[in-house]
Amino acid sequence: MKAAIIESFGGAGVFRSAELPRPKPKPGELLIRIRASSVNPVDAGVRAGKILPDDPGNFPMILGWDAAGTVEALGPETDGFACGDRVMAISPQPGSLVGTHAEFAALPVSQVVKLADAVSFTCAAAMPLIGSTALSSLQALDLPPGASVLINNPKGAVGAMAATLAPLLGFELAAPDARDVDGAIDVRGREHAQKAFSAVKDGGAYATIVPEWWKPGGVFAPARGITPVTVQNPANQQVLQPLADWLAQGVLTPKIEAILPLEKIAEAHRRLDTPGHTGKFVLDHAA
Ligand SMILES: NC(=O)c1ccc[n+]([C@@H]2O[C@H](COP(=O)([O-])OP(=O)(O)OC[C@H]3O[C@@H](n4cnc5c(N)ncnc54)[C@H](OP(=O)(O)O)[C@@H]3O)[C@@H](O)[C@H]2O)c1
Repeated sequence: MKAAIIESFGGAGVFRSAELPRPKPKPGELLIRIRASSVNPVDAGVRAGKILPDDPGNFPMILGWDAAGTVEALGPETDGFACGDRVMAISPQPGSLVGTHAEFAALPVSQVVKLADAVSFTCAAAMPLIGSTALSSLQALDLPPGASVLINNPKGAVGAMAATLAPLLGFELAAPDARDVDGAIDVRGREHAQKAFSAVKDGGAYATIVPEWWKPGGVFAPARGITPVTVQNPANQQVLQPLADWLAQGVLTPKIEAILPLEKIAEAHRRLDTPGHTGKFVLDHAA
């Protein structure tokens, strides 16, 4: 199969195209023909050697968390899916070492949901990591409907998704400079995290998706009756299914900065590394 691989950590120039054996689905896995994937800051972190996979020396390595495509083959114990099903999937790449920037990936059923015919592969490929992180972070606040929630970068990929999802979950979206909010989500870290924390009223809720191992300053000690929560993407069907439903209903649309062919992954990473974009870089594997 065709794949975009890295053989060492480094800048965006480390990618190259390669021909690798097609994976075989094990029990509980689906072989997915990936029609589109997308890039995320975590991929840039792994590529640069800043976020180390569980087995950091395992080259050649395929990066990528997000996938949309069709079921090509089924391993045993994959009830509920059939060959040809349109699907959206997530792969926690640094942990599993299964990346999505390839023609195929074998992924556990628990990381795959079906995709409605009306949703394009390029749209769905922009959604899994940002949508599920946004949803998990809103849920992590554990606030009742009607609560006011501040998101400290509503133009970022996860932030924009959280800002769209907040009203769908019954929250009132607060302005980024609001004070005394019931809850805040930090999607940027450092001084931005500090500012979001200080905007929460005493006894309120605060969650960050930017842990201090990634950007120092993203997590705080409990203070003023607020216990900070660090959100890690759960990468499972439970969090993907509502996103697939909202995509099908047309109430959720990820903002896409550019759609590039898989061969242009280095360009996608270069642009991801350059501040100023406000949407996702999607890779069209059929282009
Ligand atoms: N915990 C999890 O499971 C999880 C899941 C997904 C993402 N994340 C993390 O969450 C953060 C946000 O992810 P994302 O996908 O939504 O990325 P994003 O914020 O859309 O884009 C990140 C890049 O854009 C820059 N940027 C963002 N907003 C900007 C602004 N207003 N002005 C100038 N530059 C800006 C960032 O610079 P700065 O570095 O200066 O902000 C960074 O270089 C990342 O740190 C990512 O690693 C965590």
